[in-house]
Amino acid sequence: QSDSAVEELLAQMTLEEKVGQLNFVVGDLFNTGPTVRTSESQRFDEAIKKGEITGLFNIHGADYVNRLQRIAVEESRLGIPLLIGADIIHGFKTVFPLSIGEAASWDLAMVEKAAQVAAQESAAVGINLTFAPMVDISRDARWGRTSEGSGEDPYLGSRMAEARVRGFQGKGLADPLTIAACVKHFAAYGAAEAGRDYNTVDISEYELRNTYLPPFKAAIDAGSATLMTAFNELNGVPATAHTLLLQQILQKEWQFEGAVISDWQNIGEMLAHGYVADSAQAAQLALEAGTHVDMMAEIFLRKIPQLVRDGVVKETVLDEAVRKVLQLKMDLGLFDNPYQYGSAEKEKELIRSEAFLKTAREMAERSIVLLKNEGQVLPLKKGKKKVAVIGPLGNNKADMNGSWSFFGEEQHPVTILEGLKAFDTEAEFTYVAGCDLYTNSTEGFAEAVAAARKADVIILAIGESAPMNGEGASRASIHLPGVQEDLVKALHQSGKPMIALVSSGRPLVLNWLHENVPAVLAMWTLGSETGHAVANVLYGNYNPSGKLPMSFPRAEGQLPLYYNHKQTGRMYTGDHSEPGSERVYRSRYRDVPNSPLYPFGYGLSYTTFEYSDFTIDKQTISLADSVKLSVTVRNSGTLAGEEVVQWYIRDEVGSITRPVKELKGFEKISLAPGESKTLSLHLSADDLAFWRADMTFGAEPGSFQVFVGGNSRDVLNQSFTLSPQP
Ligand code: IFM
Repeated sequence: QSDSAVEELLAQMTLEEKVGQLNFVVGDLFNTGPTVRTSESQRFDEAIKKGEITGLFNIHGADYVNRLQRIAVEESRLGIPLLIGADIIHGFKTVFPLSIGEAASWDLAMVEKAAQVAAQESAAVGINLTFAPMVDISRDARWGRTSEGSGEDPYLGSRMAEARVRGFQGKGLADPLTIAACVKHFAAYGAAEAGRDYNTVDISEYELRNTYLPPFKAAIDAGSATLMTAFNELNGVPATAHTLLLQQILQKEWQFEGAVISDWQNIGEMLAHGYVADSAQAAQLALEAGTHVDMMAEIFLRKIPQLVRDGVVKETVLDEAVRKVLQLKMDLGLFDNPYQYGSAEKEKELIRSEAFLKTAREMAERSIVLLKNEGQVLPLKKGKKKVAVIGPLGNNKADMNGSWSFFGEEQHPVTILEGLKAFDTEAEFTYVAGCDLYTNSTEGFAEAVAAARKADVIILAIGESAPMNGEGASRASIHLPGVQEDLVKALHQSGKPMIALVSSGRPLVLNWLHENVPAVLAMWTLGSETGHAVANVLYGNYNPSGKLPMSFPRAEGQLPLYYNHKQTGRMYTGDHSEPGSERVYRSRYRDVPNSPLYPFGYGLSYTTFEYSDFTIDKQTISLADSVKLSVTVRNSGTLAGEEVVQWYIRDEVGSITRPVKELKGFEKISLAPGESKTLSLHLSADDLAFWRADMTFGAEPGSFQVFVGGNSRDVLNQSFTLSPQP
């Protein structure tokens, strides 16, 4: 619908109706039917009639949502339909792996498909807006929200951001089986000091622009309809009133036209930040900076009308915010058919349909990363044998959906034990938890050790619980929680082959496992199809192909840890234990190496890949030219498999110092045993560009190294020069 429809409506609105369109409130979370009447929902009915609410979030159910839409459309003065938002982060009722897990697949088509499934299920129950994708770069695994993003790298993060926006929004917002995306949290939320959620962020504008902003830009270029501001302050200014972020970058430079939504109560939190003296000032600064929708603070509702009447806030500023919201509702097709998002038939047809569960299983298989496979313990063979599944996550449904899965039901996920039993019907499985995820009780150890002694192989199901990840879930220690590592040590004495399945929403410190357990897999939290996906991978029905989207540290003291770090004036890459005074005054630790235990991009397969013939077609290129890199990758093993071929560059000298490596491209390929493929990448000056010392964006002439490999550490290299000629 046209701009004029928005203008016509705006012209009829009172000040109170205008601020009502900016007021987004949480619903009674699990209220799914029209018969449910809590005092909360009674309150919502009244507020909707009065036009005090633009929408509700975290509610669902076609009947319930449509009942509320009917009140909005038929009983409010202007009949403006509601936004129905929800945190659809990694699936709705069909639950996909945590976003960090999906990112580990490096499979953009699959990630897009997963978001599409999530959109279809949510749209069927009346939801029209998701608070996703979360695109915050995270280099500190202590941060609990690491699980919601795509890891440490801006290039991988950008591609994942685009894939998710495409998946949610499909070909257009008005399609009743798509939902609007809300890219979040703008910006640099993942750079919270010490990995502590909501903590201060103080980074340079170079760092902001070169590292933290690219995934936001990518999501916006892919069409994200809305954007959410972050909880943090950035360089002394709360993100919700940050004019550099919201006006200069978002509006002026990126020309973003969508609605900007605050995070939960964070307009009000400007008082706690010590940035404003009262809520009126908070409302004024947030609105004037370009935050259009107030989530949960109800400060716009309470303060803006008077501020406008007093001439403190211009009505034109308020109108601009209201326009964004009305336009969004029009783009979603809500004015044409307010009931198009909730359909009882579609609910029945789509929710947890066989096809959707299959997609969830495929996504889960692709998210698993094989970190170690000594002596080819894996893949397992089907048949008569005794398998002991040991660990608190082995037959656990409650933690399989993971954090930010409000809607996934606890009874649904297939547990690891269930999946294995269904797959290998001849094997004899026993299950012992051995310990829990939280306490230091070792009471269950004896039973676990006895089961291990009787087994031919032990499958360890260990890691983090769902609530150990997500918002407010930072951890100072990122070792296995509780006594799980002690349990593994006790089982190790049985001398039986062990396979460790490690669930987590972040990189963990896994040194002991790495040194002592023959097979280790990072499985994140896999969602609805956990057990089936695990069985397919452990038995080689699916050859693992995941690669780490974040470096796994050797110790928390290394954090933040990321492959694309700077060189420093005194970088040290040797073994930390080497003696010698010449090594003292270097950038290093005395007790652990600088390197991660498992680097970014790392992951094994049951087959092996060889890289050869890395060539470059020119030694020198001009700014208008491009260079072509080629490499041949051969499956040198005996099983078919997939490899993620990763291309990196290093800009050797810059007007601001440049990272030692930067991912610039990747491709996931399938190869039959013995098969080779030659892959190419074209790099132009645009690919070499960065935010420079003078705050302009562009490439700088000079020497570049280029690398290719199956992870960020083990690479082949070449070099070329970018000449200053245009
Ligand atoms: O979308 C979330 C956000 O990521 C964190 N605070 C609450 C919002 C709505 O649930």
